[in-house]
Amino acid sequence: MVWVEGEPGIGKSSLVAEALAAGSAPGWDVGWGIAGKLTERLPLRVMLDCLQVRPGSPDPRRAHAADLLRSLRQGLFADGDASVTGIELLVGLVDELSAAAPTVIVLDDLQWADDASLIVWHQLAASIGQLRLLLIGTCRPAPRRPEVQELHAAVIRHGGRIVTLGPLTETDVTALVTAMLGSPPGDTLRQLTAQAAGNPLYVRELVDAMVREQALEIGPAAAEVSAAGERLPASLAAVLTDRLSSVPAGTAQLLRTATLLGGKFAVTDLAVVLRRPASALAADVQEAVAAGILTEHPNDPDLAFRHLLIQQALYESMPAALRTALHAEAARELAAAGAGVLSVAQQLSAANKPGEAWARTWLVESGPALAIRAPQVGAEILRRELDATPSGDEARDGLMASLAWALLAAGSYQEAASQASRALTVMTDPDAGLAGDAATGRNRRPGRGRRDRDPGPDRRRGGWRRVRDGARPDRSVADPFRPARSRGRA
Ligand SMILES: Nc1ncnc2c1ncn2[C@@H]1O[C@H](COP(=O)(O)OP(=O)(O)O)[C@@H](O)[C@H]1O
Ligand SMILES: [Mg+2]
Repeated sequence: MVWVEGEPGIGKSSLVAEALAAGSAPGWDVGWGIAGKLTERLPLRVMLDCLQVRPGSPDPRRAHAADLLRSLRQGLFADGDASVTGIELLVGLVDELSAAAPTVIVLDDLQWADDASLIVWHQLAASIGQLRLLLIGTCRPAPRRPEVQELHAAVIRHGGRIVTLGPLTETDVTALVTAMLGSPPGDTLRQLTAQAAGNPLYVRELVDAMVREQALEIGPAAAEVSAAGERLPASLAAVLTDRLSSVPAGTAQLLRTATLLGGKFAVTDLAVVLRRPASALAADVQEAVAAGILTEHPNDPDLAFRHLLIQQALYESMPAALRTALHAEAARELAAAGAGVLSVAQQLSAANKPGEAWARTWLVESGPALAIRAPQVGAEILRRELDATPSGDEARDGLMASLAWALLAAGSYQEAASQASRALTVMTDPDAGLAGDAATGRNRRPGRGRRDRDPGPDRRRGGWRRVRDGARPDRSVADPFRPARSRGRA
């Protein structure tokens, strides 16, 4: 187990990528999941990305896990805690993968990993000695959430390595600049790059910006700042946003819109928000990739910003009021285009603008799916919307029922119970909203009726447990979160 920590841009991801490129063998199963601010509250998200668990995956083990997970989520309310079973399912999958080939799991930017993914790590850590498994995490330094701090402690407890990356030395910075420009930096340029305080991302961005602005005179003996170097951006954020000036206006517009979707996003979602067909984005996306702002990965349909700090700087360069208005617009466009509930919910959450008629309709229709896929975010949006919905409005019943389900799925059992009983006392048609299995509720729940065709979750869970029990002792002992959850449920 290895835990790499340091400030953003210090080289954590690069170090892990280099180490794996140099040290791994072709047959290894390497998964890389990147957490982001938007994924922190999506159960299992980063671990699912890392393990490439997707319906229709070419690997039958992964496709099977994705199918099981989906039916688990659909059976959630009738059959118990889907996130606990989902955790077991992923732990079982890693058992299977690492039995077949040496397996590497990289969770990048752990400070934003969701709790369920952290629990998967805990459970794997407890038996890492018996697995052909390498767990690698990267994380920003404190302050961290208690769950992340707990994982850090577990890595130490299980004998893992903590690698702390500090700033580059002056000699390293000089070597980096020399490698970039072909000549060593002169005195003025060295003073300028010192402003980066040894942060390689900052050094690179600064030097790139000077090359773009033609602010350097590069001779064979030294590279030095020219007269044009007077107007150089002063902060890292300014250097990063300056990248936009190097691309055509249409590309810059696409990039500003893309920042609304987070560090990583689906091209189809971006097309919807821009109100352009996906095929029409190709040229601008190429420009952005060539300018070093976006990156594409061969096995990943999504696009990503090359570094989160770039996304953040571009995002923050827009006034806050404009951003929230744009989030609200994006939510509406995505909902109208039938985009995934998570995409719409993330925009609604960021827009924080309850009371829109379309959003209310969407929430009534998608509330149950939202409660399952993103319970915490769902509860937050539903609560806000309910507060803004006048009593007597016909949407209230549906919103209340969905809120109760979301709270239940998020593990807030007491609040779920009180929300449910409050709902029952005021509902106009309680049978339609809350009674029995959510699948029979009047909300059009995706997968309704499908459970009949699936094996019951108990059988599935038993199946996974059998596999694991054969392999090693029960991991739940080492799971720091589970006792708390059990208490909550009692
Ligand atoms: N040791 C290094 N020497 C030169 N450049 C580096 C080094 N480490 C990182 N970089 C560059 O710095 C930038 C940020 O690195 P990254 O690994 O993404 O940082 P982090 O993951 O810590 O945020 C990248 O562009 C990378 O190429
Ligand atoms: Mg990184």
